[in-house]
Amino acid sequence: MTEPVDERPAERSPEAEKAAPSRRKLLGWGGAGLALGAVAAGGTATAMRSGDTAPADADAAAGAAVPFHGAHQAGIATAVQDRLHFAAFDVTTDDREALISLLKEWTKAAAAMTAGDAVGDGAVGGLAEAPPDDTGEALGLPPSRLTLTFGVGPTLFAKDGKDRFGIKDRRPDALIDLPQFPGDNLDKARSGGDLCVQACADDPQVAVHAIRNLARIGFGKVAIRWSQLGFGKTSSTTPGAQTPRNMFGFKDGTENVAGDDPKSLEAHVWVPTSEAKGDAAWLAGGSYLVARRIRMHIETWDRTSLKEQEDVFGRDKAEGAPAGRTHERDAAHLPSMLPTAHVRLAHPDSNGGIRILRRGYSFTDGTDGLGRLDAGLFFLAYQRDVRHGFVPLQRKLARHDALNEYIQHVGSAVFAVPPGVRDTADWWGRALFTSA
Ligand code: HEM
Repeated sequence: MTEPVDERPAERSPEAEKAAPSRRKLLGWGGAGLALGAVAAGGTATAMRSGDTAPADADAAAGAAVPFHGAHQAGIATAVQDRLHFAAFDVTTDDREALISLLKEWTKAAAAMTAGDAVGDGAVGGLAEAPPDDTGEALGLPPSRLTLTFGVGPTLFAKDGKDRFGIKDRRPDALIDLPQFPGDNLDKARSGGDLCVQACADDPQVAVHAIRNLARIGFGKVAIRWSQLGFGKTSSTTPGAQTPRNMFGFKDGTENVAGDDPKSLEAHVWVPTSEAKGDAAWLAGGSYLVARRIRMHIETWDRTSLKEQEDVFGRDKAEGAPAGRTHERDAAHLPSMLPTAHVRLAHPDSNGGIRILRRGYSFTDGTDGLGRLDAGLFFLAYQRDVRHGFVPLQRKLARHDALNEYIQHVGSAVFAVPPGVRDTADWWGRALFTSA
């Protein structure tokens, strides 16, 4: 297997930095480096288009670039990276053309950063009198499988009844305002947003750099409304890889829509052309994202017996096997679980076949002032229609889940996620803002 090689020596003189402002170049590959990165990640020729499949042994290829262009946006079905920086933005301009030009600029910057290159003319080597185009903290770092996934929230279409950008009629029916669920304790300051960008990478500095540079490009047109850092992915789209564990110590992501299962992706994740009709046709091949900041009361959990912990989920802690079974991947036998067990309630057999693609991360944001960790799960789930995905699942979980004693939903947002950026002439949101 060929690994991408950084052409630059570990230590570089300031002169050398000036001569090569680009963040990183793949040795002798140029544009083809992206495709080779996908192959190095265990993908096939068809896997080179972003979002199409999750390379089976992607973890082995940490550092490679994930292709930005393709039928679907990367960061959904592609292999889950280790770190997250998620940002929700408010659009602060009312000027439609200014917003469109920002989205074009963002797309260009996103394509560069995901390839491991710097934004614009780079962080160094430009005019000494002007601030550099790139903030610089990712200089010398590999692409780290950075993916940037873009979405639009309900308030972009109309806010306080006002059609700010002439797209009110293009709001898809499925982009509903999420209902209030029992037990919700939502903080408005950590909810909603006109736009979102999910940055995932194997290096937190690369993810943070990406959001920071997008926010900087958007100065005067958008402002970050809230953001969330995440670590320790709590789901997997690559069933061959070891399942990660969540903050309660349980394997999380065992039963998930796999990135290399196109049939399930079509059935449960991508918006089909038949559903994206009329004014919502711009979303065909896209998806819907629900983001929930879920606080986990880990101090209470840590005083709970192992037996009760396992009963709460309906799976054992060591192996992750479903109750009454031996191995993690054994089929669940739902009657062996308590009626309130999380897995029993969330299982497709209990919900008319509903499946969602979970892509969440753990978070720990210091302490809450009462000596408890402000920790939990930043839940991210992609689906083709939230009305037949997250909403019915969460209605049931909010009422009956034994887990509710140990968790609380404190932030919430929903976004329509457009299909992939097809080529260098395409841009985030093009189909939404143009009639073609
Ligand atoms: C802090 C909150 C949560 C924790 C700690 C948690 C944890 C887990 C764990 C450990 C599993 C079993 C392993 C697996 O198959 O992934 C699981 C399964 C699952 N969870 Fe959650 N979860 C949480 C919230 C949610 C929410 C809000 C939803 C959806 C509304 C959800 C939907 C699911 C689904 C669909 C499954 C797979 C069930 C199956 O097919 O067997 N979870 N979760």
